Amino acid sequence: MKDLFAKIYKDKGPLGKWASQAEGYFVFPKLEGEISNRMKFQGKDVITWSINDYLGLANHPEVRKIDAEAAATYGSAYPMGARMMSGHTDLHEQLQNELAAFVNKEAAYLLNFGYQGMVSTVDALVSKDDIIVYDVDSHACIIDGVRLHMGKRFTFKHNDIESLEKNLERATKMAEQTGGGILVISEGVFGMRGEQGKLKEIVALKKKYNFRLFVDDAHGFGTLGKTGAGAGEEQGVQDEIDVYFATFAKSMASTGAFIAADKEIIDYLKYNLRSQMFAKSLQMQLVVGALKRLDMLRTMPELKENLWKIVNALQSGLKERGFDIGTTQSCVTPVYLKGSIPEAMALVKDLRENHGIFCSIVVYPVIPKGLILLRMIPTASHTLQDVEETLEAFSAIRTRLEDGTYKRVSAKLMEMMGE
Ligand SMILES: Cc1ncc(COP(=O)(O)O)c(C=O)c1O
Repeated sequence: MKDLFAKIYKDKGPLGKWASQAEGYFVFPKLEGEISNRMKFQGKDVITWSINDYLGLANHPEVRKIDAEAAATYGSAYPMGARMMSGHTDLHEQLQNELAAFVNKEAAYLLNFGYQGMVSTVDALVSKDDIIVYDVDSHACIIDGVRLHMGKRFTFKHNDIESLEKNLERATKMAEQTGGGILVISEGVFGMRGEQGKLKEIVALKKKYNFRLFVDDAHGFGTLGKTGAGAGEEQGVQDEIDVYFATFAKSMASTGAFIAADKEIIDYLKYNLRSQMFAKSLQMQLVVGALKRLDMLRTMPELKENLWKIVNALQSGLKERGFDIGTTQSCVTPVYLKGSIPEAMALVKDLRENHGIFCSIVVYPVIPKGLILLRMIPTASHTLQDVEETLEAFSAIRTRLEDGTYKRVSAKLMEMMGE
């Protein structure tokens, strides 16, 4: 019989296999210093474009103060136990009520982590007779939630309403046989390429098909919509989203998440979300910190205005210089270039070492072979000077990519990788 670990010794997995070339630099890099537009990487100052601190709250003095005070008052343990048992407090309730009001829903419920919470919410919303129809480019937390589902599921082509409708037809036929219902899942903003989910078009299909809509708005919350309530507000369909999800890990610059819906639905989820029923409650320090951050989202519209000033400067500057930024409709700013993985590595190294620019790099298999995606996250803490320096650097690296410099630099690596 085989040793269970035999496969692990042999194959480190699609990402793990790059570890010896990539770890510490391209993956698991250590960014140091206070979270802001400029941080340190391997002792060098870099302009940071890879942190989802959209509104620049992570290091805001008022946020730092309240976080420190809450830690001094409550420590990091309180309250102990799951919400249902011994981990419930007035402030948890207050935060839920304020979040619900902010996203225009009747009620909300806190989640310890967005990822687990999403998995668990998908799980709790469906029974084996129900059918899930979800966007094929969904975040891993949606896919993992769907994996728990014992019944049928269909994917629709990314943001493709015709494909959604086709799958709704199939799902409707199937649901008529099983006696179940249909859950459609989309993201408010797709975090890799920045397109908004076509929520308005999805919602319009409710006239023809009977389904409920669950939206993961991790990147829309705080950044989109007049009040910052997210992609549903931006597209004028917040009321038609049956279950709304957002995390604190982006605009709120913290940890935790929430779902919001009609009161009866939240009352049900409260008693059926396994990730919350069987896990310790969100600690008070984070609850107090989230109340403060939410208050800032409500009362400081300049945070979102500053964010968009930077987003617009960066995206229009890139377009003016002829860069392909795809079809983004949000702050997420992808830059698509053509090249192999070794070329992408040489390019990113040049950006970091010689231009002081730190952004994330995405390559095959996440995107098609031969494409390099530099993913940039503008924030309210960036300056127009940061944008200018970055645009200059991007023009310089494109020249070197096109004149074959990176191909030459990476020749040895390419040989090793059989490119
Ligand atoms: C679309 C999306 N959903 C869910 C999550 C998970 O949230 P959390 O970091 O709170 O676990 C993320 C990443 O943070 C995300 O990008």
